[in-house]
Amino acid sequence: MIIAVDGPAGAGKSTVAKIVAKKLNINYIDTGAMYRAVTYKCLANNIDINDEVSVINIAKNSIIDFKDNNIYLDGKILADEIRTMEVSNNVSNVAKIKEVRYLMVDIQREIGKRSSVILDGRDIGSYVFPNADYKFYLVATPEERGLRRYKELTEKGYDVNLDEIIKDIIKRDEIDSNREFAPLVKSDDAIEIDTTGKSIDEVVDLIYEVL
Ligand code: CDP
Repeated sequence: MIIAVDGPAGAGKSTVAKIVAKKLNINYIDTGAMYRAVTYKCLANNIDINDEVSVINIAKNSIIDFKDNNIYLDGKILADEIRTMEVSNNVSNVAKIKEVRYLMVDIQREIGKRSSVILDGRDIGSYVFPNADYKFYLVATPEERGLRRYKELTEKGYDVNLDEIIKDIIKRDEIDSNREFAPLVKSDDAIEIDTTGKSIDEVVDLIYEVL
């Protein structure tokens, strides 16, 4: 079984996907974490994100996989280092590179071949798994999405600025929606859920009604 959960930044995709994965006892793949991992490695190696050849080279020479729903880069588990503002500010420019996407999508499809999985991302229902069993598209206002991300980061002890987060979210939505290859888009057969003003439980319940 393949479940696709797409939508713009901070719409609550990963939170609900994790809960659904646990309940159904299937794997959860955070595809955004894969693009973040490549971005993180580029930044750590002082690669200019606009230098596509070098970014592609980094992506090609990276081993990205998932174990127990955790992402590993070159054998090392990744956690909050891929959630920094620096990574967020650069990830959409890495994710718009077609060759980088080919590499990540291959890994996603391979995982989908060998197991039941719920994946969250931007192009899962529209491009990676167009025949997914279920497709959801989560949206919320930029202000609410920014506030959620702000709370998430401040609770972890990060000193972040709400305006900056909202700006980053709007900017990423714009790049993700307008890129040429596999942009952020709601597929016709995806069920749209507006999560603005809804609790996590309410959104999860709406999904369970469909499954
Ligand atoms: O968690 P958040 O909503 O902030 O974003 P994310 O899911 O971690 O994704 C980070 C970035 O990766 C997005 O802004 C996209 O640029 C890119 N991405 C993508 O292009 N395709 C995907 N399937 C998932 C993420």
